[in-house]
Amino acid sequence: MLKLSPSILAADFARLGQQCEMVLQAGADMLHIDVMDGHFVPNISLGVPVLESLHKALPDAFYDVHLMISDPLAYVEPFARAGASLITFHLESDSPVAETLAAIRQAGCQAAVSIKPATPPEAVLPWLDQLDMVLVMSVEPGFGGQAFMPEAVDKVRFLRTEAEKRGLHQLMIQVDGGINPETAALCAQAGADVLVAGSAVFRAADPAAALRLLRGQEGA
Ligand code: DX5
Ligand code: ZN
Repeated sequence: MLKLSPSILAADFARLGQQCEMVLQAGADMLHIDVMDGHFVPNISLGVPVLESLHKALPDAFYDVHLMISDPLAYVEPFARAGASLITFHLESDSPVAETLAAIRQAGCQAAVSIKPATPPEAVLPWLDQLDMVLVMSVEPGFGGQAFMPEAVDKVRFLRTEAEKRGLHQLMIQVDGGINPETAALCAQAGADVLVAGSAVFRAADPAAALRLLRGQEGA
Protein backbone atom coordinates (compact mmCIF):
# COMPACT_ATOMS: atom_id res chain seq x y z
CA MET A 1 0.00 0.00 0.00
CA LEU A 2 1.41 3.35 -1.08
CA LYS A 3 2.14 5.77 1.76
CA LEU A 4 2.05 9.54 1.36
CA SER A 5 4.22 11.91 3.37
CA PRO A 6 3.29 15.56 2.77
CA SER A 7 6.28 17.90 3.14
CA ILE A 8 5.50 20.72 5.53
CA LEU A 9 7.96 22.89 3.60
CA ALA A 10 5.03 23.83 1.35
CA ALA A 11 2.69 24.62 4.27
CA ASP A 12 1.74 28.06 5.55
CA PHE A 13 4.03 28.26 8.58
CA ALA A 14 1.71 30.73 10.29
CA ARG A 15 -0.92 27.99 10.42
CA LEU A 16 1.35 24.95 10.59
CA GLY A 17 -0.49 22.97 13.29
CA GLN A 18 -3.89 23.34 11.65
CA GLN A 19 -2.52 22.49 8.22
CA CYS A 20 -0.79 19.35 9.50
CA GLU A 21 -3.95 18.24 11.27
CA MET A 22 -5.90 18.89 8.09
CA VAL A 23 -3.63 16.74 5.84
CA LEU A 24 -3.61 13.91 8.40
CA GLN A 25 -7.40 13.97 8.51
CA ALA A 26 -7.38 14.06 4.71
CA GLY A 27 -5.51 10.75 4.62
CA ALA A 28 -1.78 11.53 4.85
CA ASP A 29 0.15 8.62 6.39
CA MET A 30 2.92 10.73 7.94
CA LEU A 31 4.42 14.22 7.98
CA HIS A 32 7.68 14.94 6.13
CA ILE A 33 9.87 17.40 8.00
CA ASP A 34 12.54 18.98 5.74
CA VAL A 35 15.45 20.24 7.82
CA MET A 36 18.02 22.43 6.02
CA ASP A 37 21.10 24.08 7.47
CA GLY A 38 22.16 26.56 4.76
CA HIS A 39 25.38 24.57 4.38
CA PHE A 40 24.59 21.09 3.08
CA VAL A 41 21.97 22.78 0.89
CA PRO A 42 21.68 26.46 -0.06
CA ASN A 43 18.56 27.09 2.01
CA ILE A 44 17.47 27.24 5.66
CA SER A 45 14.11 25.79 6.64
CA LEU A 46 13.27 24.76 10.20
CA GLY A 47 14.72 22.95 13.17
CA VAL A 48 14.13 21.10 16.44
CA PRO A 49 11.68 23.57 18.11
CA VAL A 50 9.24 23.32 15.20
CA LEU A 51 9.14 19.51 15.43
CA GLU A 52 8.83 19.75 19.19
CA SER A 53 5.77 22.00 18.94
CA LEU A 54 4.15 19.90 16.23
CA HIS A 55 4.71 16.73 18.22
CA LYS A 56 3.11 18.31 21.28
CA ALA A 57 0.09 19.41 19.25
CA LEU A 58 -0.21 16.15 17.25
CA PRO A 59 1.43 13.43 19.36
CA ASP A 60 0.08 10.48 17.38
CA ALA A 61 1.45 11.53 13.99
CA PHE A 62 4.40 9.71 12.41
CA TYR A 63 7.23 12.21 11.93
CA ASP A 64 9.40 11.46 8.87
CA VAL A 65 12.42 13.72 9.42
CA HIS A 66 14.65 14.44 6.39
CA LEU A 67 17.95 15.94 7.51
CA MET A 68 19.60 17.95 4.73
CA ILE A 69 22.41 19.06 7.00
CA SER A 70 26.20 18.62 6.96
CA ASP A 71 26.53 16.93 10.35
CA PRO A 72 23.42 14.83 10.97
CA LEU A 73 25.12 12.76 13.70
CA ALA A 74 25.25 15.81 15.97
CA TYR A 75 21.48 16.34 15.66
CA VAL A 76 20.08 12.80 15.87
CA GLU A 77 19.40 13.01 19.60
CA PRO A 78 17.72 16.42 19.64
CA PHE A 79 15.41 15.46 16.77
CA ALA A 80 14.63 12.10 18.36
CA ARG A 81 13.81 13.82 21.66
CA ALA A 82 11.60 16.30 19.81
CA GLY A 83 9.47 13.46 18.46
CA ALA A 84 11.04 12.08 15.25
CA SER A 85 9.69 8.64 14.31
CA LEU A 86 12.10 8.07 11.43
CA ILE A 87 15.32 9.95 10.68
CA THR A 88 16.81 10.17 7.20
CA PHE A 89 20.29 11.55 6.60
CA HIS A 90 22.33 11.94 3.42
CA LEU A 91 25.12 9.59 2.38
CA GLU A 92 26.81 12.76 1.02
CA SER A 93 26.88 14.41 4.46
CA ASP A 94 30.03 14.62 6.60
CA SER A 95 28.85 12.20 9.32
CA PRO A 96 30.12 8.61 9.40
CA VAL A 97 27.33 6.35 8.12
CA ALA A 98 27.66 3.41 10.54
CA GLU A 99 27.88 5.67 13.59
CA THR A 100 24.95 7.80 12.49
CA LEU A 101 22.78 4.73 11.86
CA ALA A 102 23.73 3.39 15.29
CA ALA A 103 22.84 6.72 16.92
CA ILE A 104 19.43 6.76 15.22
CA ARG A 105 18.68 3.21 16.46
CA GLN A 106 19.98 4.06 19.92
CA ALA A 107 17.58 7.01 20.00
CA GLY A 108 14.69 4.64 19.25
CA CYS A 109 13.91 5.86 15.73
CA GLN A 110 13.65 4.14 12.37
CA ALA A 111 16.65 4.82 10.13
CA ALA A 112 17.03 5.83 6.49
CA VAL A 113 19.69 7.17 4.17
CA SER A 114 19.13 9.42 1.19
CA ILE A 115 20.98 9.96 -2.07
CA LYS A 116 21.11 13.15 -4.13
CA PRO A 117 20.52 12.99 -7.90
CA ALA A 118 24.27 12.69 -8.69
CA THR A 119 24.87 9.76 -6.33
CA PRO A 120 24.55 6.28 -7.86
CA PRO A 121 22.18 3.86 -6.12
CA GLU A 122 25.05 1.36 -5.70
CA ALA A 123 26.34 3.64 -2.91
CA VAL A 124 23.46 2.50 -0.69
CA LEU A 125 24.05 -1.24 -1.12
CA PRO A 126 26.58 -1.72 1.72
CA TRP A 127 23.96 -0.38 4.17
CA LEU A 128 20.81 -1.86 2.71
CA ASP A 129 20.25 -4.58 5.32
CA GLN A 130 20.55 -2.03 8.15
CA LEU A 131 17.91 0.36 6.85
CA ASP A 132 14.18 0.80 7.32
CA MET A 133 14.04 3.06 4.28
CA VAL A 134 16.05 4.50 1.39
CA LEU A 135 15.14 7.99 0.15
CA VAL A 136 15.83 8.62 -3.52
CA MET A 137 15.88 12.36 -4.23
CA SER A 138 14.15 13.22 -7.49
CA VAL A 139 15.21 16.89 -7.31
CA GLU A 140 18.35 18.60 -6.06
CA PRO A 141 17.64 18.99 -2.32
CA GLY A 142 17.10 22.51 -1.03
CA PHE A 143 13.80 23.77 -2.42
CA GLY A 144 10.22 22.67 -2.92
CA GLY A 145 8.39 23.11 -6.21
CA GLN A 146 11.08 21.78 -8.57
CA ALA A 147 10.55 19.52 -11.58
CA PHE A 148 10.86 15.73 -11.14
CA MET A 149 14.08 14.19 -12.49
CA PRO A 150 13.05 10.97 -14.28
CA GLU A 151 16.42 9.27 -13.59
CA ALA A 152 15.09 8.65 -10.07
CA VAL A 153 12.73 5.99 -11.43
CA ASP A 154 15.60 3.73 -12.57
CA LYS A 155 17.28 4.15 -9.17
CA VAL A 156 14.09 3.02 -7.43
CA ARG A 157 13.78 0.00 -9.72
CA PHE A 158 17.43 -0.93 -9.10
CA LEU A 159 17.10 -0.61 -5.32
CA ARG A 160 13.83 -2.57 -5.17
CA THR A 161 15.42 -5.39 -7.21
CA GLU A 162 18.52 -5.45 -4.97
CA ALA A 163 16.36 -5.42 -1.82
CA GLU A 164 14.29 -8.34 -3.10
CA LYS A 165 17.46 -10.30 -4.01
CA ARG A 166 18.57 -9.91 -0.40
CA GLY A 167 15.19 -10.88 1.04
CA LEU A 168 14.63 -7.36 2.40
CA HIS A 169 10.92 -7.32 1.67
CA GLN A 170 10.16 -4.76 4.39
CA LEU A 171 12.55 -2.09 3.08
CA MET A 172 10.67 1.10 2.28
CA ILE A 173 11.75 3.13 -0.73
CA GLN A 174 10.77 6.79 -0.63
CA VAL A 175 10.93 9.35 -3.44
CA ASP A 176 11.07 13.08 -2.73
CA GLY A 177 10.71 16.03 -5.10
CA GLY A 178 8.36 16.95 -7.94
CA ILE A 179 5.77 14.31 -7.04
CA ASN A 180 2.41 14.77 -8.78
CA PRO A 181 -0.16 12.16 -9.90
CA GLU A 182 1.87 11.29 -13.03
CA THR A 183 5.31 11.01 -11.39
CA ALA A 184 3.76 9.22 -8.39
CA ALA A 185 2.49 6.47 -10.68
CA LEU A 186 5.94 6.07 -12.30
CA CYS A 187 7.61 5.78 -8.89
CA ALA A 188 5.04 3.33 -7.54
CA GLN A 189 5.36 1.11 -10.63
CA ALA A 190 9.14 1.03 -10.14
CA GLY A 191 8.76 -0.15 -6.54
CA ALA A 192 8.57 2.98 -4.40
CA ASP A 193 6.14 2.74 -1.50
CA VAL A 194 6.46 6.10 0.28
CA LEU A 195 6.07 9.34 -1.67
CA VAL A 196 6.82 12.83 -0.40
CA ALA A 197 4.72 15.64 -1.81
CA GLY A 198 4.89 19.26 -0.75
CA SER A 199 3.31 21.56 -3.30
CA ALA A 200 0.93 18.89 -4.66
CA VAL A 201 -0.73 18.56 -1.24
CA PHE A 202 -0.35 21.80 0.74
CA ARG A 203 -0.92 24.09 -2.25
CA ALA A 204 -3.94 22.12 -3.49
CA ALA A 205 -7.40 23.66 -3.14
CA ASP A 206 -8.63 20.26 -1.90
CA PRO A 207 -5.78 18.36 -0.17
CA ALA A 208 -7.94 15.25 0.39
CA ALA A 209 -8.62 15.04 -3.35
CA ALA A 210 -4.93 15.67 -4.06
CA LEU A 211 -3.95 12.76 -1.79
CA ARG A 212 -6.44 10.45 -3.52
CA LEU A 213 -5.07 11.46 -6.94
CA LEU A 214 -1.51 10.76 -5.76
CA ARG A 215 -2.61 7.27 -4.70
CA GLY A 216 -3.98 6.76 -8.19
CA GLN A 217 -7.55 6.61 -6.99
CA GLU A 218 -9.81 7.70 -9.83
CA GLY A 219 -12.72 10.04 -9.36
CA ALA A 220 -10.83 12.13 -6.79
C1 DX5 B 1 13.53 19.25 -1.23
C2 DX5 B 1 12.70 18.62 -0.14
C3 DX5 B 1 11.36 18.11 -0.58
C4 DX5 B 1 10.45 19.15 -1.11
C5 DX5 B 1 9.36 18.50 -1.92
O1 DX5 B 1 14.77 19.57 -0.73
O2 DX5 B 1 13.40 17.52 0.40
O3 DX5 B 1 10.75 17.39 0.47
O4 DX5 B 1 9.91 19.94 -0.12
O5 DX5 B 1 8.59 19.51 -2.44
P1 DX5 B 1 7.72 19.36 -3.77
O6 DX5 B 1 6.79 18.22 -3.55
O7 DX5 B 1 7.05 20.67 -3.88
O8 DX5 B 1 8.69 19.06 -4.89
ZN1 ZN C 1 12.44 16.06 1.87
